[in-house]
Amino acid sequence: MSKINIAIDGFSSCGKSTLAKQLAQHIGYVYVDSGAMYRAVTLFAMRNDFFTKMDLNEAQLIASLAQVEVRLAYDSKTQSQITFLNNENVEEEIRKMPVSQRVSQVAVVKEVRERLVFLQQQMALDRGVVMDGRDIGTVVMPDAELKIFMTASPEVRAKRRLDELEAKGDKVSFDEVIENLKHRDHIDQTRAESPLTQADDARVLDNSKITREEQLKLVKSWISLFPS
Ligand code: CDP
Repeated sequence: MSKINIAIDGFSSCGKSTLAKQLAQHIGYVYVDSGAMYRAVTLFAMRNDFFTKMDLNEAQLIASLAQVEVRLAYDSKTQSQITFLNNENVEEEIRKMPVSQRVSQVAVVKEVRERLVFLQQQMALDRGVVMDGRDIGTVVMPDAELKIFMTASPEVRAKRRLDELEAKGDKVSFDEVIENLKHRDHIDQTRAESPLTQADDARVLDNSKITREEQLKLVKSWISLFPS
């Protein structure tokens, strides 16, 4: 079967990465987690003190962007993606709350987006890519054959994210998690640069009430509509 590109967009924590990983494994595609790249740049900004409490000094970040190298690699042992920031494995650190609380501010910066979108487009050139994010079907891969826009209720999303963080030993409250999701969704939808919107040709997938297996079956049935 000739390979296609699959774009998955949607709100925070609605299961985009779960679906993208499932799909990539089942059909032998490459999974690209675009959010991890924004998270890595955020960690870079935090470590270089470009944030004063929650305020980002955008000019400082833009001036230092040339020093940021973000790379995604696949660890076949754990069958998971690893994110590298200037050759350091930052996969664990970028998933924690301090980064989650700041990442949407970094993602509004035009120069950051231009740089990361370029890298993401390079990764998709050979097709056979499942990429998830906010602007994948609209900006990064507008020519993706299959576009999926995912949604789920805020409570379901917050519960899933809380379980994920607790499993890693992070002590956070439900309220803290739901506030963070709502805050990020708001910034992501209202920013001037590539806001989160549903592409006209996207299929909507609300997974509030369906299992992982059911969602995989549904999406595989969509994929089977493409000529092989
Ligand atoms: O996993 P979750 O859905 O919570 O977030 P993520 O995919 O790791 O993305 C983190 C943040 O990066 C989002 O809240 C967006 O602000 C930003 N992002 C973006 O602007 N564009 C993308 N293509 C991916 C992420």
